[in-house]
Amino acid sequence: MAAVIALANQKGGVGKTTSTYNLGVALADVGQKVLLLDLDPQGGLTYYSGFEPEELGKTIYHCLVRNTSPQEITLRNDYGVDLLPANIDLSLAEFQLVTAPARERRITRIVNAVRDDYDFILIDCQPSLGLLTINALAAADEVIIPVSCEFLSIRGTRALLRLIAKVRGSLNSKLQIAGILPTLFDTRTRHGREVLARLEQEFPQIPLYPHAVARSIRFAESAASQKPIYDTKFQVPGALAYRELARELVRKK
Ligand SMILES: Nc1ncnc2c1ncn2[C@@H]1O[C@H](COP(=O)(O)OP(=O)(O)OP(=O)(O)O)[C@@H](O)[C@H]1O
Ligand SMILES: [Mg+2]
Repeated sequence: MAAVIALANQKGGVGKTTSTYNLGVALADVGQKVLLLDLDPQGGLTYYSGFEPEELGKTIYHCLVRNTSPQEITLRNDYGVDLLPANIDLSLAEFQLVTAPARERRITRIVNAVRDDYDFILIDCQPSLGLLTINALAAADEVIIPVSCEFLSIRGTRALLRLIAKVRGSLNSKLQIAGILPTLFDTRTRHGREVLARLEQEFPQIPLYPHAVARSIRFAESAASQKPIYDTKFQVPGALAYRELARELVRKK
C-alpha cells in the first residue's frame, strides 16, 4: 500500500512542484511505483511531467467534482511515474465543493481508490491553505515542507504548522510531518546557512533533512524542457538531494 506524502507550503515559489517531480522520478529510479497528484490549478507538475495542462480533457477536477475514477485520468510519463493531472479547471472545484458533503475528504477518497497500486503517492499542493490543501493534508500520511532558504520563509512555516495541527485535530489524526526540506540553498552566501540554523532552532521538534537542495539555474531549464533534473549532461548538486531523500523515504517505509 502506498505511502501518501503531501508537499505543502502556502508560500509560493519554494520548490514544491520541483521537489514533487524530481523526488517522484528518483523514487521510480530505485524501483518504486509512483503516482504524482497535481493539486494546483496552475498545472505546473502536469507540465513538468511532459503534458500540456490545457489540452487535457479530463483531470483531477473531474474526479473531485464529477466522481470520474482516478484510473480514467491517469497518465504515464516517459520517466516511469504516473500522474493525476490538473489544469485551470481545478480552480472551480474549490467553489463547487463549498456545499458538498465531506468536501475535505474528496482527495482521501480518490487516493484510497488507487492506494494499493503504488508504493508512493506524492501530492503537489498549491500555494494556499485553502480547501485543496486541506484535502491533501487529510489524505496524507506525511507532509514534507519545502522551505526556501531565506528568512521570510520561517514565518510562513509557522502558519502551515498551525494548519497541520488543526487538520490533525479534526480530519487526520495520523498525519505526520516527515520533515522540512531546505530548497534554493545558496552555497556561496552565509545567509543560507543562517536560515538552516534558524530552522533548527525554531522548529526543534521537526526533522530537517540534512541534504539541502542547492540553487541552480538547471532547475528552471529542467522544468522548461519538461525533463527531470537528472536528464542533463551536467552534474547538478541539487539533484543529489532528491536522490538522497528518495533513498531515505524507501528506507523508512
Ligand atoms: N533548487 C533550485 N534552484 C534554482 N531554481 C529552482 C530550484 N528549485 C526550484 N527552482 C525554480 O524556482 C521556481 C519555483 O519553483 P517551484 O515551481 O517548484 O515552486 P512551487 O513552490 O511549486 O511554486 P508555486 O507555489 O507557485 O506552486 C521555478 O522556476 C523553479 O524552476
Ligand atoms: Mg508549484
